[in-house]
Amino acid sequence: MKKTLLPLILALGILTAQSQNKSTPSVIPVPASLIANSGTFTITNNTVISVSAGTSKELDNMSNQMSKVLQTATGFNLKTGPAGTDGGIKLELLTTPNTSLGNEGYQLKVTSTGVLISANKPAGIFYGIQSFMQLMPKEIESKTVVNNFSWTVPCVTIDDQPRFGWRGLMLDVSRHFFTKDEVKKFMDDMVKFKFNLLHLHLTDDEGWRIEIKSLPKLTSVGAWRIERNGKWANSPKAADPSEPKTYGGFYTQEDIKELVKYGQDRFLTIMPEIDVPGHSMAALAAYPELSCTGGEHTVYQGISFMNWFPNGKFEAIVENGLCPANEKVYEFLDKVFTEVAALFPFEYIHMGGDECAKNFWEKSPAVQALMKKEGLKTMPEVESYFVKRVEKIVNSKGKKLMGWDEILEGGISPTANVMSWRGVKGGIEAAESKHHVVMSPSSFAYLDYVQGEPLLEAPVYASLRLNKAYSFDPVQEGMDAKYVLGGQGNQWTEQLGNYRSLQYMTWPRALAIAEATWSPKERKDWNSFASRVEKQFDRWDISDDKYSKAMFDAVVEASKDDKGNLYANLSTEVSGMSIYYSFDESNPDNYYPKYAKPVLVPKDAATMKIVTYRDGKQIGKQINIPVTELAKRAAKK
Ligand code: ACM
Repeated sequence: MKKTLLPLILALGILTAQSQNKSTPSVIPVPASLIANSGTFTITNNTVISVSAGTSKELDNMSNQMSKVLQTATGFNLKTGPAGTDGGIKLELLTTPNTSLGNEGYQLKVTSTGVLISANKPAGIFYGIQSFMQLMPKEIESKTVVNNFSWTVPCVTIDDQPRFGWRGLMLDVSRHFFTKDEVKKFMDDMVKFKFNLLHLHLTDDEGWRIEIKSLPKLTSVGAWRIERNGKWANSPKAADPSEPKTYGGFYTQEDIKELVKYGQDRFLTIMPEIDVPGHSMAALAAYPELSCTGGEHTVYQGISFMNWFPNGKFEAIVENGLCPANEKVYEFLDKVFTEVAALFPFEYIHMGGDECAKNFWEKSPAVQALMKKEGLKTMPEVESYFVKRVEKIVNSKGKKLMGWDEILEGGISPTANVMSWRGVKGGIEAAESKHHVVMSPSSFAYLDYVQGEPLLEAPVYASLRLNKAYSFDPVQEGMDAKYVLGGQGNQWTEQLGNYRSLQYMTWPRALAIAEATWSPKERKDWNSFASRVEKQFDRWDISDDKYSKAMFDAVVEASKDDKGNLYANLSTEVSGMSIYYSFDESNPDNYYPKYAKPVLVPKDAATMKIVTYRDGKQIGKQINIPVTELAKRAAKK
């Protein structure tokens, strides 16, 4: 090498290092305050993770866990121990509490000589560690050792605490069963983004998933069904009752204890949901005497059992509700909630309460007699009677009642708590009447909805793109924030038959829910979020986790002018992208017409083909949309 080139090469090397250091630190959910400072801290094999003396066993566990997590990719065997030496990574519980940090807040200071994570409580330290891990290079996600790598972290000062104490995701383990290890993986993924609550939807028409020792048929019968793998697990053919019931599974009480403990070690609470009185086909299969009609019942077998009408009303074709006029139902629920309450330490039990068809109740002489006896005039009043009796049972086990917003109908007891899902209306109404609310409106927080161009995704009856999910605010205008416990995203799994599809539908939209529930509203910014999400994509690529890149696909809408001409209206969720299109059936690239304004669809065109590009590279998937479909979208406007 010529000597004269050396200074230039060195200078270039320094410049590259500096520009890397300058890249904005990327943390999801965005911290309340993050100041990027100059310089970096480098973790080496000699870095010690220390814990302030005599503090807490939880901190010792966390430092050991942190060392283990860092070891996978770095190969370092970082020592843990009491504080004393300068530098290294220090976890410190504050001896004088910092009131602004509360129970879950933390401070994270990275300087060129060390890392300090401090908090009032162990939960805060845990969240500080999660932020620190996101500041590490993406290679930290590697499942094998990355050799000859400099593990540098940018210098920052973070002061952070959550906006809400309830930051949840719901996982439906009834429609499809996820193993104990899969649920643990789901929890691991949640806590990285500071979620603190997993709502397990444990029972539904498709399966009962929790062992109740005093009612063994709930799992020996109710946890198993005929396997159906098609669209929405529906079969156009009537099921043959002799087909073996091979699909299913349930958690034993030991499994549940293990999951609860696994969550506790990660500051994650589990809330159980036993969905009654509707959605109870699996319970009725086990104990048909709990229905209004008696007779034989089966766990859902892939045949449509509900009629949904355009006005939002619905009726059951097959009975799937418990009978509110049957005293045996309340004895059954007492047994169920006794065991559930003993397994889950969380203060709330969710009783479901959603989508209960009343047509079998209406025809039941027992329900008619109950109405007469109790002076109930309408079906919502009958449902309200049922909910109030369930609330008494739940309260008698020392727990508070949570229910979907249908429990507001027909009158709600003053102590019940509401999870608002049918839009935000129920939540607003509940907060107005001084009930505590968790906001999980389908319009912003239903993670089972299609997240990109419907022609490219598995079909679902509604759409929710990432930027809409990002606009979720648990406190709606006019709501008294003190009644809003927080928010959560709901992951229903009728169509999610394996863990990879569950991941694909959950991420990245759950990141939007994480930011809505943790970050101060004024810190939220879509462009910043989208670029942080992209950085997270790189991490998931390394950790081999599945996620959706639908945010890069064009948004395709259509309209007609008053002469009946059809226009394609295209846009992108993420800024800085260009859209190109064709009408001649050829596949467009970035030399094709670039979209600038609504495009008149040529009369002879059959298909519009659309791609998105950024920096000269295709970034979104190609969409081939029939002109007939554009016309349908225009008609819907
Ligand atoms: C619900 O989505 N039925 C709560």
